[in-house]
Amino acid sequence: MGMSSFPVFIFLFMVCLCQSDDRLMPAKPLLPGDVLISEGGAFAIGFFSLKNSTSSSYVGIWYNNIPERTYVWIANRDNPITANMPGKLVFTNSSDLVLLDSTGHTIWTTTNNFTAGDGETAAVLLDSGNLVIQSPNGTGIWESFHYPTDTIVPNVRFSLSSADVTKRLVAWKGPNNPSSSNFSMGGDTSSDLQIVIWNGTRPYWRRAAWGGEAVFGKFQRNSNFVMSQTIVDTGDGYHFTVTVPVGSPSVRLTLDYTGMLNFQRWNSSTSSWTIFEKFPSPTCDRYAFCGPFGYCDSTEYVPTCKCLDGYEPNGLNFSQGCRRKEELKCGNGESFLTLPTMKTPDKFLYIKNRTFDQCTAECSHNCSCTAYAYANLKNVNTTLDQTRCLVWMGELVDVEKFDSTFGENLYLRVPRSPVSKKSTVLKIIVPVMATFLLLFTCIWLVCKSRGKHRSKKVQKNLLCLNPSNELGNENLEFPLVSFEDIITATNNFSDYKMLGKGGFGKVYKGMLEGGKEVAIKRLSKGSMQGIEEFRNEVVLIAKLQHRNLVRLLGFCIHENEKLLIYEFLSNKSLDAFLFDATRKSSLHWPTRFKIIKGVARGLLYLHQDSRLTIIHRDLKASNILLDIDMCPKISDFGMARIFCGSEQQANTTRVVGTYGYMSPEYAMEGSFSVKSDTYSFGVLLLETVSGLKISSPHLIMNFPNLIAYAWSLWRDGNAREFVDSSISESCSLQEVIRCIHLGLLCVQDHPNARPLMSSIVFMLENETTPLPTPNEPLYFTIRNYETDRSSEYIQRSLNNMSITTLEAR
Ligand SMILES: *[C@@H]1O[C@H](CO)[C@@H](O)[C@H](O)[C@H]1NC(C)=O
Ligand SMILES: *[C@@H]1O[C@H](CO)[C@@H](O)[C@H](O)[C@H]1NC(C)=O
Ligand SMILES: *[C@@H]1O[C@H](CO)[C@@H](O)[C@H](O)[C@H]1NC(C)=O
Ligand SMILES: *[C@@H]1O[C@H](CO)[C@@H](O)[C@H](O)[C@H]1NC(C)=O
Ligand SMILES: *[C@@H]1O[C@H](CO)[C@@H](O)[C@H](O)[C@H]1NC(C)=O
Ligand SMILES: *[C@@H]1O[C@H](CO)[C@@H](O)[C@H](O)[C@H]1NC(C)=O
Ligand SMILES: *[C@@H]1O[C@H](CO)[C@@H](O)[C@H](O)[C@H]1NC(C)=O
Ligand SMILES: *[C@@H]1O[C@H](CO)[C@@H](O)[C@H](O)[C@H]1NC(C)=O
Ligand SMILES: *[C@@H]1O[C@H](CO)[C@@H](O)[C@H](O)[C@H]1NC(C)=O
Ligand SMILES: *[C@@H]1O[C@H](CO)[C@@H](O)[C@H](O)[C@H]1NC(C)=O
Ligand SMILES: *[C@@H]1O[C@H](CO)[C@@H](O)[C@H](O)[C@H]1NC(C)=O
Repeated sequence: MGMSSFPVFIFLFMVCLCQSDDRLMPAKPLLPGDVLISEGGAFAIGFFSLKNSTSSSYVGIWYNNIPERTYVWIANRDNPITANMPGKLVFTNSSDLVLLDSTGHTIWTTTNNFTAGDGETAAVLLDSGNLVIQSPNGTGIWESFHYPTDTIVPNVRFSLSSADVTKRLVAWKGPNNPSSSNFSMGGDTSSDLQIVIWNGTRPYWRRAAWGGEAVFGKFQRNSNFVMSQTIVDTGDGYHFTVTVPVGSPSVRLTLDYTGMLNFQRWNSSTSSWTIFEKFPSPTCDRYAFCGPFGYCDSTEYVPTCKCLDGYEPNGLNFSQGCRRKEELKCGNGESFLTLPTMKTPDKFLYIKNRTFDQCTAECSHNCSCTAYAYANLKNVNTTLDQTRCLVWMGELVDVEKFDSTFGENLYLRVPRSPVSKKSTVLKIIVPVMATFLLLFTCIWLVCKSRGKHRSKKVQKNLLCLNPSNELGNENLEFPLVSFEDIITATNNFSDYKMLGKGGFGKVYKGMLEGGKEVAIKRLSKGSMQGIEEFRNEVVLIAKLQHRNLVRLLGFCIHENEKLLIYEFLSNKSLDAFLFDATRKSSLHWPTRFKIIKGVARGLLYLHQDSRLTIIHRDLKASNILLDIDMCPKISDFGMARIFCGSEQQANTTRVVGTYGYMSPEYAMEGSFSVKSDTYSFGVLLLETVSGLKISSPHLIMNFPNLIAYAWSLWRDGNAREFVDSSISESCSLQEVIRCIHLGLLCVQDHPNARPLMSSIVFMLENETTPLPTPNEPLYFTIRNYETDRSSEYIQRSLNNMSITTLEAR
């Protein structure tokens, strides 16, 4: 310490001794170096400078007992005092706090101009962190809590009134620059029912209109830590408040300089702030992330943009949102579709004093109304109107589908659906399948119905298998679900319920009686999956029970409709992850390896362990479904063929499958065996490791296709370059290289050279087993595929050698 600073040190020391108080009085200004400490010692107020800008000084409040200096309030954030003109904070006779620089210029001031008749007013720093100017009888004249900077601490009543623009939170400009940035947070400009973060004047995040919950949001990590967010109304509009039980660690909400609202608490064991919640998340939460009439489905493993019912994407991506599929003809019998657990859209009209029915009428009577929502605010003590009818005239923007614990019903206007006419009696044509005889390669499958009543009740149909066949003689009790139930379960095949589509038709999510979630596959009428494949799939899957095979729960045939009911798998198919730029990074190597092993076990079961030899013939990434735990399930048995125990190979005149996944002997000669599945598995393996599609040659520089690319890198000892860059950190190099090696063994030209699934499962499970050296796969590697045909389907008749390319599956 230099000689010159010695007197300053003495001066500071002396001032601190005489200022160990919690209040400012007219005769007692606050000088640089002084610190006022609240009675319980939680907060302090004083002058400070920040790192990197020591020339500027501010007056602010910080946590007194937290070692990491954290400011909760700053008086003069946009007007710092230059350090060479040290000022003072005075409390005037007219009950105002005034910050002056050394020349006597006012830097910052309150504007109370209040003179007490008798007794003294004072500015007191409370233990809550609130700086309050108190009148002689103790009431507050001014509080710093009413003018937050970028931080809310517990018990601040944060106004949601649009009139209080000056009371918004405003973020710092940078980590060491407390001046006001363009990010702010406060009540919405048009209504105090919602909270918005703005980037300048553009909304950046929005908390949907409050629906009357007593506790707006509650965070509970464990029994020791609970934080509640509540809306309070004390007669002057809604306020937002955060509360924690007495004795909890310090908690604060801060709008940081990047526009994030962080909920933090002090962790005394690590001596640091821990963020335990933050908004917005990078996808769904961002304002209008999916554009007008789009919504973000956050119930998906990876949040996804979708269009509201009756709308379709307006362009290739969601930057333009969605548009109506067909114009609504006003007054011509539209109806409302109930979408549960939704984040209600922005830009509503708030109509006061309406019952639910009046609110419905409000929307149905006006042609431009697109949706409405209703809530009752009764369960809170409000002096304001307790009804909350929101209607939307036009655009629906910033919508999100939550999981079941959040959100509310949104009533969306849709053209009247044919099923809602209750008078229509749906005919159920029962048992087309009745007494039909299915003679397959070597087994008999008899399917007969129990009765042909045209009853609206659910028909139980017994699917009988001929006791003399190899499948054994157990009977399958197998529900034939009525078409009407399916209509109900899928909201008349509403787009909102759609999980996916392809050439075979569409798959919907539905809920059957009893709340069971199912996936309903509706085969399109022109689908190449004819009645033969349909029966094939029904009979086959019904008999198969393996954790890596999708389970069939029922089926339905109605006129031209063919429907299959499967267990619902929440994570869609493997290709939706593998080939999606944003999702692929969430599919880490351990998960991919688990999927590979699961698929191998599922195939092994089909080939060997199910008492039959079943050849899938269409194994590919889009046929691998993933459950909630990312456990793979092989689906789509429409093309599968059953073999007798002894038969190992067959020929067909009808080649069906998908380009790229088909082995050379099958694609060229129509000859297939379990080794054709092995080939497809090898392709799938290479795709899973590389994250590249089999037939996207343009993605792979200088190589005709993925197999050639893999071979070349592996041969030259550069296999690690083949690994998907988004997993190169999470993966075990030994495992991935082994997988590439195994993949190359599976895609060898000669079927006999390819391993059986039993060996593959063994080689995957036992990492030390040496692997044979693969032969170079020549057949396809010297041929170029046409442009991306990965999703195309071929059906080829060997008689006339014509190739038909069918719809994408
Ligand atoms: C503070 O200054 C140092 C050196 O001048 C610089 O390296 C650092 O990035 C600055 N930090 C901030 C947050 O501006
Ligand atoms: C404030 O009031 C005290 C006495 O009440 C008086 O002595 C003092 O001059 C006043 N100060 C100002 C700035 O008016
Ligand atoms: C304060 O109020 C008094 C009268 O109550 C008025 O004369 C004076 O101009 C006011 N001062 C300010 C700064 O507004
Ligand atoms: C306290 O004083 C203020 C201002 O002097 C006055 O408006 C308020 O009514 C008083 N409150 C009570 C409880 O006396
Ligand atoms: C903040 O807003 C102003 C005016 O709208 C603009 O000029 C400025 O570039 C914005 N700053 C940032 C960091 O976006
Ligand atoms: C905020 O808006 C500015 C333009 O006004 C833009 O450049 C910036 O990227 C936006 N920030 C975020 C986080 O969206
Ligand atoms: C503090 O942080 C440590 C390490 O992150 C964590 O284990 C502990 O649970 C935290 N304690 C509290 C009270 O949050
Ligand atoms: C979305 O589509 C528009 C044109 O419709 C295009 O300009 C924009 O770059 C696309 N955005 C992304 C992220 O692909
Ligand atoms: C609410 O509406 C009813 C009629 O629907 C009316 O009698 C009542 O006065 C209204 N209340 C308010 C506060 O406007
Ligand atoms: C429908 O609502 C719009 C927007 O509020 C309004 O301008 C229009 O007059 C209303 N039409 C009818 C028929 O009420
Ligand atoms: C509403 O206020 C009344 C009286 O002030 C009180 O008895 C009641 O418990 C409060 N209800 C709620 C939900 O806070």
